[in-house]
Amino acid sequence: MRILGRIVGVRSTKQSVGIKVGGFLPRHHINGRIYGRIHGVERMVTMKVRWSIYVLVCCVLLCLTGCGSNKEAQRSVLRVGVVLYTQDDPFINALTDCLKEDLEDYETDSLKIIMTVRDGKNDQKLQDEVVEEILDAGCDILVVDLVDRTEPSNIIKMAKNENIPVIFFNREPVREDLMQWDKLYYVGGDARQSGTMQGEIAAQVIRTDHSVDRNADGKIQYVLLEGETGHQDAIIRTDSVVKTLQEQGITLEKLSYQFANWNRGQAENKMTQLIHHYGDEIELVLSNNDEMAMGAVAAYEASGYPKENRPVIFGIDGLDSALDAIQNDLIQGTVYNDRAGQAEQISRLAMDLFQGKELEGYDFENERYIFLPYQKVTAANVEEFLNR
Ligand code: GAL
Ligand code: CA
Repeated sequence: MRILGRIVGVRSTKQSVGIKVGGFLPRHHINGRIYGRIHGVERMVTMKVRWSIYVLVCCVLLCLTGCGSNKEAQRSVLRVGVVLYTQDDPFINALTDCLKEDLEDYETDSLKIIMTVRDGKNDQKLQDEVVEEILDAGCDILVVDLVDRTEPSNIIKMAKNENIPVIFFNREPVREDLMQWDKLYYVGGDARQSGTMQGEIAAQVIRTDHSVDRNADGKIQYVLLEGETGHQDAIIRTDSVVKTLQEQGITLEKLSYQFANWNRGQAENKMTQLIHHYGDEIELVLSNNDEMAMGAVAAYEASGYPKENRPVIFGIDGLDSALDAIQNDLIQGTVYNDRAGQAEQISRLAMDLFQGKELEGYDFENERYIFLPYQKVTAANVEEFLNR
């Protein structure tokens, strides 16, 4: 019987249990009295068996549901809502990828991190609505790249109502706005430094390679591709690159400034028009970012200009495509916009704010701003920046 019980215990369905019991004790071989006793015992065994199966099933169910969710329930969850000004910007997307990796690294057995990325589609009103949706759905930390850096008020108001800290990045809100509440922060690069570095790299190339001044008039005829109106990086980079070149003793002659909204396609169009208009008069292209510099390269590739008649071209960001272009001498330099460093600071801040820690070890300026330094990239050091 013990054997029976054991055998039966492992069976998972009543049907197979019944078959097994009958199989071990064929009734027609046993007389009435013995049959009665055996039959009683058999009934008892069957009940015991049923009971053990019931307990077993309960245990299994408990483990599958109860224990699992208990463990999950003990795991705290950090929900990070990332709202971009657009999802159509390679630099911003590269930075977002770094942020995702950094946050994943903070996950532990006791902390789950959910990062949601949403698109502001270049529309401040729509971005405000997206933030509202994210807050309604439940969010612990907001990370926002504003569409319009002068319009953070709605977002700040909503976040403050829900007591959700906001880390702005890339598009710098003015100090007055960031001081509206003590749970507002900004992480970005130092725009002036990027323009200055771009100017220094360009000056160095112009000084060492006299063929840049193609018409040998002692002046460098240049065009400038600008990011977008009102963007701190566009305004300051434009201003500081020109100033730096002049300070470095380069005589410049401005041919044209064109806005191309940080965008490769728009820059290619603008540059194609400039090539039609100025031909090989253009000796230097200064671009507020790499994507637009790559647009200029594309315009020259399409125009069929031989390399020796093309201008020198400089970008900012240090995107992989630009690093590759430097290696192939299609552009002559860029300035690394430290996306990895910025993502690292954002993720650290998000963690510390979530855990209510003291904000120690941050290099704050004006209490709430973190600026990461840029780095110059030319053919001489481009390898250091590959695969970052
Ligand atoms: C700049 C970057 C550009 C563009 C812009 C968007 O810092 O250099 O490529 O991404 O931000 O705000
Ligand atoms: Ca010249």
